Parts: sequence; structure tokens; C-alpha cells
Amino acid sequence: MDYQTIAAMLEEHGQSHLLKYYGELNEEQRACLLKQIEDIDWKLLDLVHNHKSTEETRGHLEPLGALEVDEIERRRQEFEAIGIQALKEQKVGAVLLAGGQGTRLGFDKPKGMFNVGIHRTLYIFQCLINNLMDVVKQVETWVPLYIMTSDKNHEDTTKFFEEQNYFGYNKEYVHFFKQRMAPSVDYDGKLFMEAKDRLSLSPNGNGGWYTSLRRSGLVEDMRKKGVEWLTVFAVDNVLQRINDPAYIGAVIQSGCDCGGKVVRKADPHERVGVLCLEDGKPSIVEYYEMTDDMIHLKDEKGNLLYNFGVILNYMFRISSLEAIVSQEMPVHIVEKKIPYINDQGELVKPEKPNGYKFEELVLDMIHLMDSCLPYEVIREKEFAPIKNPTGVDSVESARKLLMENGVEI
Ligand code: UTP
Repeated sequence: MDYQTIAAMLEEHGQSHLLKYYGELNEEQRACLLKQIEDIDWKLLDLVHNHKSTEETRGHLEPLGALEVDEIERRRQEFEAIGIQALKEQKVGAVLLAGGQGTRLGFDKPKGMFNVGIHRTLYIFQCLINNLMDVVKQVETWVPLYIMTSDKNHEDTTKFFEEQNYFGYNKEYVHFFKQRMAPSVDYDGKLFMEAKDRLSLSPNGNGGWYTSLRRSGLVEDMRKKGVEWLTVFAVDNVLQRINDPAYIGAVIQSGCDCGGKVVRKADPHERVGVLCLEDGKPSIVEYYEMTDDMIHLKDEKGNLLYNFGVILNYMFRISSLEAIVSQEMPVHIVEKKIPYINDQGELVKPEKPNGYKFEELVLDMIHLMDSCLPYEVIREKEFAPIKNPTGVDSVESARKLLMENGVEI
């Protein structure tokens, strides 16, 4: 599209400010800016104007029981045997979601590069690789590892893994791929710019991981290698077990399309998403969507029925993911701190949220599946997310949990 067409289009959408500095740009910068504008998905911006996201209203919700720790212990041998076999045959890959910006932590490098150590250096990425190495040693086979990055952190992340010699992992089994970016807007729906020649683009949420993996050609590569399952996990939970055989075995044995690790809620009002059934299909209901009745509903033994919170560690059958690739995912409007250039053309890094980003979320993929196995893990052993510098889900709380689990830090 030429300048005139783009200018007219921006005028129509009330976004003419994007060309404010056009006159100051060189040819290359101009072409880059026009291309970014051309790629804008205007449907996203309509969501802000209508003050709603594409999230649909909830269907009929029912509790979904989990495979609980007692039963897992009773059947551990059976599950482990199935899991070990699948891992030895390299049928299960692992996808690390590391494309986020981790704004709450306030660390200006990729979150995985954060050092959680006190007396020694221990990076978040290192914790995760160490955890995965436990499985590699147990099954004496490498697990194919796919790491999702974004335009914002790809270079830093790949360079860091090279510098750190992949923390001892076999680099032939590590593949990086990039996720897509989406524009961001202020509260009035005006698009932010991060430089005179660039829109403020940010990663489009963790829900696009499979389509991005596919676009990168890696799914085709997996097909050739016989990978049938993928686990997906967040970068920030330094205690999580990754591809542990009992989990892998239990999900395969269940015959479900997917599985998800869950922890028992600390109290009925804990702010976690809960795995349940919605119109007969698995789904995750957010804590703020639950009615008081649902929150306190108990079974005959007195256990809460909506009792298992997700910890962003899922496992999907690839053929089931293939079956849903053409389905649209809901887009969530998320309030964030978004750096932008002000009217004077200076870069501002806000201290508090100043606008919206658009994100697709991995948890919405669960509802596109026909069946899901919630698999209970012990919170104190497997859940130490680092979202904030201090307080809840923080560097502080994760350090404490790492030490309690015998990890030297
Ligand atoms: P979070 O929900 O913690 O989001 O991501 P975030 O954007 O990294 O952090 P804040 O909210 O700005 O502090 C959960 C997981 O999903 C990944 C993150 O890297 C983390 O592992 N993620 C998130 C992506 O891979 N891409 C995204 O676009 C967003």
C-alpha cells in the first residue's frame, strides 16, 4: 500500500498520529513503518472500542475430578512404565513458553536469564534445564525441547543459551521458534508507538504457541521424528517437574486428548484458574468468574468440588492439536505497562499500567479439546512461580521453596 492509501486508512480509524514523524524518517524507516501499519489487525482494536473481548459467555459449568496424589502413588509403577517407554521412544517433546515480557518482575532481560541464586549463580533457565535433565538421566534419552521466544527477546535468549553451553543439555535437541506480535493501545484505543518509525508491538500471548511452532516448520520435523505428544510449560515455575514419566504415563493411559497439572487450592478463594467441565468439555474457569456457590460446593466427603488450580503445565496429543488449528481462539484484552513515545517523541517507560495488549492464552486451548486429565501435584514440591520481585509468587517465595526442596541456591 502506498502512503496515500495508508494515510486515508488511518484517518478512517482515528489513528493518524502514527504518521506524525513520517517526514523525519529515511526511506528504509518509512517502508518499515508503512509495512507495520499495513499488518495491523483492525478487528483487535474494535474489541477495545466495544469494551469487550471475544471471550464468549460461559456455558454450563460442572466440576471435573482430578487424578489425585493418593491414586497416583498407588499406581505410580504402572504410570511410570508407560511414561518411560514413551520417553525412550522420543514420542514426547517439551515446549518452553518463554516469549512473555515478564513486566511484573521488572527485569529488562528475558525472564529465564534472571539469577535466583543467592550464594551461587542459578538462572531460571538453568533451573528448568536441571529439572528436565533429571528425566533425561532417568530414561537415558534426550527429550526434544522447543523454546518459544518473541521478537523482543529472541536474540538475547538464543545468545544466552549458547554462552551457557545450554546448561549441559544436548543442543541438537533444542529448537527455538518465535511467536507472533500484536499492537498495543492506550485506554482510548489509540495505538502506541515505541519509536518514530515503529509501532509498539508486543508478544501476542502464549495461546499461539502451536500455530507458531507449526509455522516454523518444527511440527513437520516432529512428525518425521515420530513425536506424538507435547508438554507445554511456563518459564517462571522453577520447581516444576518437566515430562516426569508418571505424568506422561498417566495422561497417555487416560486416553484423553490432553492433561494438565493442577494443585489443590490453598483456600476456596485462591486466585487460580480451576479445571472443570463447560458444556461437557474441559475448560478453565477463572477465580473471578466463579459464583460463591461454586466456590464452596463440596462432595459427600467434604472436599471442595472446584478444588484444583492449573499451574500452566499441560500435555497435548499432537493429532488433537492438529484437529483444532483452524479454530479461532478468544482474544483477551490485558492491562499492562507499555513503553511508548509521547507527543514530544520521547520514550516513556510507565510505572503503572497505561493501556492494553491483546493476548491469546494457552488455557483456552483446553476447551477446544474433547477430554482432559487433571493431574494433581504437590504444590510445595512443584509450584514456585516467579511473577513479582517480592511478596506472592515472587523471587523471595521461590527461593524459599527451592531451599525447602534441597536445591542449592
Ligand atoms: P505470564 O502470564 O506470566 O505473562 O506468562 P508475562 O507477559 O510473561 O508476564 P507479565 O504479566 O508481563 O509479568 C506465563 C507464561 O507464558 C509465557 C511467559 O513467558 C510465561 O512463561 N508467555 C506469555 C509467552 O510465551 N508469550 C506471551 O506472549 C506471553
